Amino acid sequence: MQSVFLWWHYFFLLWSTIKGQTRYSIPEELKQESVVGNLAKDLGLVVSELYRRKLRITSEAGKQYFKLDLGKGDLVVTDRIDREELCGQSPSCLLPLELVIDNPLQLHRVEIEIQDTNDHSPNFIAKEKIVKIAELVNPGARFPLESAQDPDVGTNSVRTYLISKNEHFKLTVKNHKDGRKIPELVLERALDREKLPVHNLILTAVDGGDPVRSGTSEITVIVLDNNDNAPQFEKQLYEANLSECATIGTEIVQVKATDADEGLNGEIEYLFAEQTTDLILTFFDINRSTGIIVVKNNLDHETTSLHRFDVTAKDKGNPEMDGHCSVEIKIVDINDNIPEIIVTSLTTPIPEDSAIGTVIAIISAKDPDSGDNGKVTLTMSPKSPFRLNPSISKHYSLVTNGPLDREKNSHYIVELLDVNDNPPVFSQLSYVVYVKENHPPGIIICSVSATDPDVGGNAKISYSILDSKVQDVSVSSYVYMNADNGSIYSMHSFDYEKLKVFQIQVQAKDQGSPCLSSNATVHVFILDQNDNAPAVIYPSSAALGSLSHQRMPRSAKAGHLVTKVTAVDADSGHNAWISYRLAEATDTSLFTVNQYTGEVRTKRAVSEQDESSQRLLIEIKDDGEPLQSATITVSILLEDGLHEPILELRHKTSEPNRKTGRITLYLILSLASVSVLSLVTFLILAVKCIRNSRSSGSCCMRRSDCDDYKKPNRNLQIQLNTDGPIKYVEVLGGDMMSQSQSFRSCMSPMSEYSDFTLIKPSSTTDFKEVISVLDASLPDSTWTFESQQVSRKYLLLF
Ligand SMILES: *[C@@H]1O[C@H](CO)[C@@H](O)[C@H](O)[C@H]1NC(C)=O
Ligand SMILES: *[C@@H]1O[C@H](CO)[C@@H](O)[C@H](O)[C@H]1NC(C)=O
Ligand SMILES: *[C@@H]1O[C@H](CO)[C@@H](O)[C@H](O)[C@H]1NC(C)=O
Ligand SMILES: *[C@@H]1O[C@H](CO)[C@@H](O)[C@H](O)[C@H]1NC(C)=O
Repeated sequence: MQSVFLWWHYFFLLWSTIKGQTRYSIPEELKQESVVGNLAKDLGLVVSELYRRKLRITSEAGKQYFKLDLGKGDLVVTDRIDREELCGQSPSCLLPLELVIDNPLQLHRVEIEIQDTNDHSPNFIAKEKIVKIAELVNPGARFPLESAQDPDVGTNSVRTYLISKNEHFKLTVKNHKDGRKIPELVLERALDREKLPVHNLILTAVDGGDPVRSGTSEITVIVLDNNDNAPQFEKQLYEANLSECATIGTEIVQVKATDADEGLNGEIEYLFAEQTTDLILTFFDINRSTGIIVVKNNLDHETTSLHRFDVTAKDKGNPEMDGHCSVEIKIVDINDNIPEIIVTSLTTPIPEDSAIGTVIAIISAKDPDSGDNGKVTLTMSPKSPFRLNPSISKHYSLVTNGPLDREKNSHYIVELLDVNDNPPVFSQLSYVVYVKENHPPGIIICSVSATDPDVGGNAKISYSILDSKVQDVSVSSYVYMNADNGSIYSMHSFDYEKLKVFQIQVQAKDQGSPCLSSNATVHVFILDQNDNAPAVIYPSSAALGSLSHQRMPRSAKAGHLVTKVTAVDADSGHNAWISYRLAEATDTSLFTVNQYTGEVRTKRAVSEQDESSQRLLIEIKDDGEPLQSATITVSILLEDGLHEPILELRHKTSEPNRKTGRITLYLILSLASVSVLSLVTFLILAVKCIRNSRSSGSCCMRRSDCDDYKKPNRNLQIQLNTDGPIKYVEVLGGDMMSQSQSFRSCMSPMSEYSDFTLIKPSSTTDFKEVISVLDASLPDSTWTFESQQVSRKYLLLF
């Protein structure tokens, strides 16, 4: 072998001439100017003749690797010859060459065989490979790996593969039909992810050249987890001491388990063991993810002093595996029970001359607490002429211990046990609170308190709100109450315009057995804040701040009523007092606005010089704090041809308009029938009243109720309609304008039945003003209003 390689390295030629064909064999990658062979000699030519006879290589397409040295007759290498480039993986690599010589003309074929040298190392395309193997796979399993590439051929190509030293795997090489060698990883010994989750191996490919060349690839074996480990608790038994007065939610103990598996196989869930009793389940809860055991219900040492149960930890693998532990919770007694004294028998009264040692009563005492908390000792006040003698078990006898003198002390009271004989009593039967509207929610609006003269639990008070409805919604959605101290909180802010007053029924309950309770009422009044700006209702076409068009004749005199602005304010009291002001005008000398009524009148007669288009900006303000305002722009057109509206209307009514005439007729008819009907009704009522009044003296029909907030006042809402030629007034019931107005129609049996007086005791606006509003709003009408006879005349028109 060695000599063969040496022979490759120095150069060697082997030639033969087959039927005029000469073959040379040279290794690839020869140096330039290396001699391939002596052509002159091998072709039988005379060296000195070569020039003359012009020996040459017939130029062929493609790269030329050789040239002729005509002086010596040698064929020499001119360029690098890479066998892999020329012939790839084919086992033989021949370069044909044709030579021509003249005089006489001869053609010689020469073949040059390029021999492979080991100039390439085996190479893995992927330098790293990850192989995932399940933990449970049996030994003997095979995992094919990538084969390495080596461009060299024959023995210089990949000969074999090696794997780095390890405990679990060996390598076999499978020979493919096409000659490729495929390495395979074979599991020799079972894997354990918990011991070693990742194995790093080196795969080496070795070729058969001399010297040997090799290439490597890293193989990472990841062992996939199997759920082969059960959760393990850190302790077999968890113990805890818990006070019997522990509140619900108190954390008692945390159990903890670990699982060596990973992913879902290692994810632990804690549960009460299957055989856990319902009693345990009512008292305790376990957090599935943290294993923290908490109190779920009130515990009582006197009922059960020790709770024992098992907890299971389960992983989420498939199949799931579990672990177990025990938990013991000792309920520690606290002295939560007062000793109870029971008088078994009592002899009373007793003669004052009873001998010392006379038994008066048999008394026993008990306390359900345990240990020292349950030990009861009875003592007597030392000055009393009695003594307690311990008798059988927990019984005592009360005996006289000195002379009794009825004249000094006619009776003795031995205070024994409280009986729940007193209900809690509220400090007030009804509470009145005022809450500003728009306050932030969550404030304390009121605190109620009650006292109970009993002792202990018999005097422990808890407060609650009794359910009732406020505007069809449960009161509990408006307020809530602190059960311990009676503070009442609002749950949202109130809107005076929607809700003015409501009441809350509260209850105080003691914890005696049976418990006693008492009720109280909290009246909540919402106070108005100036949170509404005045809203313009007339001229009705005008939205807030927008434009209203009015027309007036140029012939108008001073004091002519151009229009009237009417606004309302949803607030009440001062917050709803509206005043009008002329803020801007095209000509301030021409118009004036009445501060109270909103009437726009001319200050002087209109002259020819006045512009025909006048614009007024009227500001409407309320009297609240902070002040709210609105504006309206009125545009007035001065028109030459315009008649006085009153004339126009007269003219209109005299027009033979049949339709209007018919409507008028209907209106008159309906008015008449309504009047007749009401008259009849009132007559009947009056007769009844007079009969009743013989016993009661006076008869008064009240429309207002004492419980104002229960039945909201019905107030007048006046709506002006100017619809075509008919103008009319609608008087509607409602509580939009003011809630404090109340009408009372009173009929004295003394007065004439037909006479009604309209009394408006608490109105914030003068009724006359309302009437003048109506009057002025209809400047064109012939309407008059007599306040004494409202009932007859309040609807009319044209
Ligand atoms: C519970 O209380 C007992 C008696 O006081 C004590 O011996 C024990 O160590 C306590 N256990 C725990 C877990 O605190
Ligand atoms: C369990 O504990 C976790 C973490 O403290 C908490 O997020 C989860 O709400 C608890 N689960 C229950 C049912 O209380
Ligand atoms: C009632 O308790 C709450 C919360 O502890 C407290 O904010 C409030 O001031 C208390 N009310 C009274 C009247 O003490
Ligand atoms: C308190 O009100 C509730 C519900 O209206 C009623 O059932 C209860 O009898 C009342 N209690 C007293 C002491 O008046």
